[in-house]
Amino acid sequence: MKYLSALPSSAHFDKISKIHLDRQKWVNQNKKGFLRYRTPFQNLSRFQATYIDCSGDIVTIGSKDEVNTDEQRRVRDGLKKFMPWRKGPFSIFGIDVDAEWRSERKWHHIIPELPDLKGKIVADIGCNNGYYMFRMSAFEPRLVIGLEPSVQHYYCFKALNSMAGLDQLDIDLLGVEHIHYFESCFDVVFLLGIIYHRPSPIGTLRDIHTSLQPGGTLILESQAIPGSEPIALFPDKTYAKVPGTYFVPTGPCLCNWMKKAGFKNVSFFCSHPMSAQEQRRTAWMQFESYEDFIDKNTPGKTVEGYPAPCRVFLKGEKQ
Ligand SMILES: C[S@@+](CC[C@H](N)C(=O)[O-])C[C@H]1O[C@@H](n2cnc3c(N)ncnc32)[C@H](O)[C@@H]1O
Repeated sequence: MKYLSALPSSAHFDKISKIHLDRQKWVNQNKKGFLRYRTPFQNLSRFQATYIDCSGDIVTIGSKDEVNTDEQRRVRDGLKKFMPWRKGPFSIFGIDVDAEWRSERKWHHIIPELPDLKGKIVADIGCNNGYYMFRMSAFEPRLVIGLEPSVQHYYCFKALNSMAGLDQLDIDLLGVEHIHYFESCFDVVFLLGIIYHRPSPIGTLRDIHTSLQPGGTLILESQAIPGSEPIALFPDKTYAKVPGTYFVPTGPCLCNWMKKAGFKNVSFFCSHPMSAQEQRRTAWMQFESYEDFIDKNTPGKTVEGYPAPCRVFLKGEKQ
């Protein structure tokens, strides 16, 4: 947890260290569920890339000519252990990892509204394998901390960054429920694809507000229902087959949540329907995907009969 030394004194170091140590003790056990990801991480970390490019849509770590055929096979075998790959695309030593999500599309919508990241301390909450953290690195932040409680995604990021060697990126097995311990720490927080999984979305936004420095910015992206009324859907068991979905707001509803949580200068800067062009089954993610979640006879509805999802982007500041 090298990131601690970069945080201002307002951080609750005792609390963060305790959670970190507890989770490290947990994840370092020699149990099958942890070894299935820890071992490929260790194997992949033997490969150090010289060529890194995070400025393009495909995050590129290592080129094909840096490894021989046998080494490339070993890299491919290691990467496959992290299937299903949800976020990407990546190119690793010449191996194209075509993930379920074309994450570069989301990033393209954010770029025009991106605050200056140069020299800044940034949090990416629910960072998954770190695709967006790698993209942020191209803007020269001082530090990007990924909070990610999933062991699979945690080790996938660690594997990728052990090959990339980007010191300004770090990850911890924390969740958004710990963000308030980072009091007044961040210049920019990214909350992408998370808020509809929270049972108390306004509480989550208040905690994120606490974690920002005065003048700091939240970039918020969420699955949403279409509409101009400030309302939210509260689905029964699943929404688009995804369990653990609580409130699916419209863009204006999310705007109001942000204002209620204390954000100023809130702007709702983009909205578009979700589609099978952006989320689909690939060789690296062989399970069901978007087209299986939507009613085949009524494309405007999910399989549960709810409005089909769109994606909304908002931004707000702490004064
Ligand atoms: C829908 S994905 C979004 C990933 C990424 N932020 C994006 O926009 O593509 C949700 C992510 O949140 C992570 N997650 C699950 N519980 C979480 C929690 N309590 N706090 C933060 N992230 C969590 C999941 O493991 C997963 O990587």
